[in-house]
Amino acid sequence: MKVTVDQMIRETADVKRFRLRATDGRELPRFSAGAHIATTAGGFERNYSLVDGDREFYEIAIRRESGSRGGSVYWHDRVSEGDEVEIRCPKNHFPLSFRAKHHVFFAAGIGITPFMAMMRELSERGASFELHYAARSRADCAFYDAIQRRFGSNACFYFSKTGHRLTTERLLELPIGSHVYFCGPESFIHDFTEAALSLGYPKGSLHHERFAAKPVPNPQPFTLVLAKTGQTLHVPKNKTVLEVLRETGVKVPYSCRVGACGTCEVEVLKGKIDHYDSFLSDEEREKEDTMLTCVSRCRSGKLILNL
Ligand code: FES
Repeated sequence: MKVTVDQMIRETADVKRFRLRATDGRELPRFSAGAHIATTAGGFERNYSLVDGDREFYEIAIRRESGSRGGSVYWHDRVSEGDEVEIRCPKNHFPLSFRAKHHVFFAAGIGITPFMAMMRELSERGASFELHYAARSRADCAFYDAIQRRFGSNACFYFSKTGHRLTTERLLELPIGSHVYFCGPESFIHDFTEAALSLGYPKGSLHHERFAAKPVPNPQPFTLVLAKTGQTLHVPKNKTVLEVLRETGVKVPYSCRVGACGTCEVEVLKGKIDHYDSFLSDEEREKEDTMLTCVSRCRSGKLILNL
C-alpha cells in the first residue's frame, strides 16, 4: 500500500521519526503493540516497529546507521515530507504476553521503538510494567521527554557516558511472574537472554526482537539442490538461501528476514544445517530436517531442500 510521509521529526542527532498516512486518504489497517511494517523506499526493503499510530497514521523511528547497507541512510538523507513510500500491512512477531503478571522492558538504543507502543497499550489497560532503557547519553536517548511525560514513574534510564550502565543484575530483582522483553543490538539481546536463562527464568517468559540477523562468522559458499524440480543452485558466501531462491524465481514466503518469525522455514531432506535463527527450539534443530532460509546456512557443502 502507498503511504505519504506526512511529518518528519528529529528525535536525536541520529534518530528521526516519520509519520505516514495512506496516500489515498483511507484508514490504515489496525495493528497490535509490538508490530512492525515492511517499508520499501529507494529500493531498500526494511522492517520498522510501529512506535505510535492508529487508523489515521503510522509512526516509525529510524536511527541513521552509517555502516548500514543503505536503508536507514536513504530514509534520513533522501526522504522528505510529501514523499510517497510503499509499505506492507503490519505484522507482529513481538506481541505482549497475556500471561505476564508484570512486564519488564529492556531497551538499548533504537531498541526502544516497539516498547513505545507496548507501554502505551499496557498503561491504557492499567497493567503493570517497567522500562529499563540504555543510551549513550540524554542527548542520544530517543523519546526521553515522551517517556518521562507518559510513563515517567515506570522508567529508569541508563546513560553510559555518565558511567551509569544497565547491567543484567536488574534481572535479579524482578517479581515472580514477570515477563521480560529485550530489544537492541545482538550482543545486548544475547547477554540478557543468557543471564535470564542462567537465573532460571522459564524460556516462555523471555521475549526479544532483533533488527538484524545474528552475525555469521566466516560464511562459506555451498550448493542447494531442489528435490522437486531437480535444480542445482549456488549459494555464495555473501548471499542467503532465501536471496538465492528468490533470485531464481522460486516463490518462498518470508517476513522478518532476521531468523525470528519462522515464515521462511523449509524442509531439508539431506545435509547438515548451520542454524543462525532464533525461532527453532533446540529439539527442532537437532532433528536437522528444517531450516530458516533467511539466515541459516550449510555445514556439509550441500543441502537438499523439499522444494
Ligand atoms: S523470514 Fe522470518 S525467520 Fe526467515
